[in-house]
Amino acid sequence: MRTTFSCFLPALLLFQTCAAGPSQQPLEDDPTLNAATGNADYREFLFAPGQPEPQPVSQRVQDIWDTLRAVQPVAFHVNKPSGLLGYTLHYGREAFRILFLNGPASDKTGRKTNPTVARAVEELKAAADEDQDTDAMFLLAEMNFYGNFTHPRNFTEAFLWYNDLAWLTGNSTAQSMVGFMYATGIGEAVERDQAKALMYHEFAAEGGNTRSEMTLAYRYHTGIGTPKTCDHALFYYKKVADKVIDFYRSGPPGGHAMIRDSYRWADEEGGVYGEGASVSSSGMNARDPSHVTEASVEDVLEFLDLMSRKGELRHTYTLAKMHYEGARGLPRNFHRAMKYFKVVIRKYWNEDGSIKQNPPAGLDKLAAKAAGHVGLMYLRGEGVAQSYGTALIWFRRGLANGDGLCQHQMGLMYLHGYGVPQDAYKASSYFKAAAEQDIPAAETRLGALFLDQGDVAAATRYFELAARWGWMEAYYYLAEMTNFGVGRQRHCGVATAYYKLVAEKAEMVHSAFAEANAAYEAGDKESALIPAMMAAEQGYETAQANVAYLLDEQRSLFSLNSILPWVQKTRSALLRNTRLALIYWTRSAKQTNIDSLIKMGDYYLAGTGTVSDADKASTCYHNAAEAHRSAQAYWNLGWMHENGIAVQQDFHMAKRYYDLALDTNKEAYLPVKLSLLKLRARGYWNRITNGNINPIRDDEDSRPKLTLREWIATFIRNDEAEYWEELYESREDDEDFIGRGLDSENHDDGYYDDLDFDIDEGMLEGLLIVGLAATLLVLVYIRQQQQRNRQNENAANAGNANGNGNANANNANNRGFFPQPGDPEFGQWVAGGVGH
Ligand SMILES: *[C@@H]1O[C@H](CO)[C@@H](O)[C@H](O)[C@H]1NC(C)=O
Ligand SMILES: *[C@@H]1O[C@H](CO)[C@@H](O)[C@H](O)[C@H]1NC(C)=O
Ligand SMILES: *[C@@H]1O[C@H](CO)[C@@H](O)[C@H](O)[C@H]1NC(C)=O
Repeated sequence: MRTTFSCFLPALLLFQTCAAGPSQQPLEDDPTLNAATGNADYREFLFAPGQPEPQPVSQRVQDIWDTLRAVQPVAFHVNKPSGLLGYTLHYGREAFRILFLNGPASDKTGRKTNPTVARAVEELKAAADEDQDTDAMFLLAEMNFYGNFTHPRNFTEAFLWYNDLAWLTGNSTAQSMVGFMYATGIGEAVERDQAKALMYHEFAAEGGNTRSEMTLAYRYHTGIGTPKTCDHALFYYKKVADKVIDFYRSGPPGGHAMIRDSYRWADEEGGVYGEGASVSSSGMNARDPSHVTEASVEDVLEFLDLMSRKGELRHTYTLAKMHYEGARGLPRNFHRAMKYFKVVIRKYWNEDGSIKQNPPAGLDKLAAKAAGHVGLMYLRGEGVAQSYGTALIWFRRGLANGDGLCQHQMGLMYLHGYGVPQDAYKASSYFKAAAEQDIPAAETRLGALFLDQGDVAAATRYFELAARWGWMEAYYYLAEMTNFGVGRQRHCGVATAYYKLVAEKAEMVHSAFAEANAAYEAGDKESALIPAMMAAEQGYETAQANVAYLLDEQRSLFSLNSILPWVQKTRSALLRNTRLALIYWTRSAKQTNIDSLIKMGDYYLAGTGTVSDADKASTCYHNAAEAHRSAQAYWNLGWMHENGIAVQQDFHMAKRYYDLALDTNKEAYLPVKLSLLKLRARGYWNRITNGNINPIRDDEDSRPKLTLREWIATFIRNDEAEYWEELYESREDDEDFIGRGLDSENHDDGYYDDLDFDIDEGMLEGLLIVGLAATLLVLVYIRQQQQRNRQNENAANAGNANGNGNANANNANNRGFFPQPGDPEFGQWVAGGVGH
């Protein structure tokens, strides 16, 4: 089966690709790459000429397929906690997982092959070998890759089938998969090889594979496996965007609904560093409504339902809208939406369309909005039979109250002549009215009308207004105008950015986020990894962060197997890939994900998935801290200064960074306070042993020596107050004292008060934290016992090398007690201590 030509063709192709270089004129349609060989005989193996004509599936394969479909798929069982006991158990398990396990037990090693499936696979193999049946090969490849029909995954096998198929028929799906496998080296089926990946994706893109087009666009955009080439990136992103817009416009009136399923899994847990410590869940992101989690959707629904029952029509309307639009963890439900909209409507209009007497104040607007949505559902045929007449009735009712949505829909009806005579003038006046209420869809239509008239300036204005709302079509128009230099200078970079936005808005067209999310929520991390990784290759930042998060091994405080050696590692081989994790952290960080940037630093510091490089780590932290004000990064910098990693050991700077961390994020209270306590102790040690580390206080030595008792008393009584007093005095001399100025207004409004535990509000929380911290310390101590010998050796070595034995010995002991940023426990240590 694996014929000889597939052995030498890759070499030939590689040679040909190198000789031709990246295709120079990507804007041309005809595949010039083909001609380069000048040998027509090979053509059929490179690309199927034109569109491969759909051949009927052979009876043999059809029969097997039918058998397979009858096999019950393993149902996802989602364990959603319910009730007090349920929640207690759930969180108990979670706590255990966080504390001890590197990942949830999701290994499918026990998976038995279903005898029916095994027989079917034999049949398929026979069909593939005897008849060269491409459908059989494709099915075999998919089953081995995705594990369909309970077939166990075998990426090696999948690769062989996809590869055969790609070479035999030039099937672009198969080429795209081969490209993906070369790009990621998933399942160790093949060596990672970016040049080959690029080559296969190029072939698949020639065959019109959207995923490959997007992957190539992203690769040329960021320069992965190829030099950055804006024109190539633009070319491919435009291809995807064109398809997306065609799809969008082929939908019901108003276009296909674009459902968003891409979100970061880490955000469920408050970001990769946990609630409060991660940039994504702290600071100005703390109450970002886009971080509504699944659990909170249920709460919100329950609350709205309750209020709605009490006759709060505002909440009934919100409820209806949520069901209509869908939300994370809440699929769209037109019937419920209609039901709730009608509840609002019936309070305002009688059956015959007359208005009820004395409607409550404000109900007119609300009812008009509801009418607009009901009309929209009739116009688009959502949950009801499509009816322009009925839609018109509802829009007219809403129009009477000046509803923007109704105005827009009326405009649409006149523009396209849905149930009314076509009338562009009327349409534009309706759009104008709606645009005045900032309805992005109307702004886009109006912009398009102005563009037709040649008024580029007005068109641009309207598109930009709509783009504020993230309206996909407006982005597309802006992209086209920038690309073709309409009314402005052509700009490749800007156009590419717009096309990328369009392509990524239409995630449901060419990506499988919904599938990845479902698998993730069901706890099947392997099945979640594959579609997420595909989306990540296509350039979605959220998917890149998700993949890295799945592959991240630093999440656990410490592994159970270090204290209980008989507990086996539970992560499957597929999920143990730190090199890949680092790659995706890096890509995500490049798309300005700050938490990923810090993670990148952690990986470099610890040498996870790469060689250890403290300088790179320091650069990452500095970047994250200074450009983006991340508390975690400040804390890491403080730690690096405290321990002299990649910088000169400097307690003064360490203190400053720790304080900045607390300043940036009040939720970092506990870890920062613990660190400061330790720092103080070390500073004291440094002082009494005459260490040469830059101390915390400049004029410490001029002070009278305190006895230990006095010292402890002062230590406990006042920490920062005194420090700040002194710092304030020496402020003029202190040239490093810049960062504080930014937050100086905080000092006036009770900054110091914030530093004390608020017993009234947070006593229970505080006690919990302290209890937790105590437990952690005990556990850490147990582990430390094991490592003590090794550490002492290290400390002795380091001490001799630096000629700074005392400080370093102390240093080493402390390191064991408080995790370093590079340690596996570090992330959870900080995360666990914060904000819970
Ligand atoms: C690739 O081959 C499979 C199986 O024959 C077929 O279902 C699929 O449509 C093909 N893809 C393309 C793009 O031709
Ligand atoms: C196998 O499963 C994947 C992912 O769930 C799906 O995309 C694909 O269509 C399935 N293939 C077949 C042949 O059912
Ligand atoms: C996967 O397939 C390859 C090639 O057919 C085979 O050598 C290997 O043993 C298979 N691996 C497993 C785990 O079945």
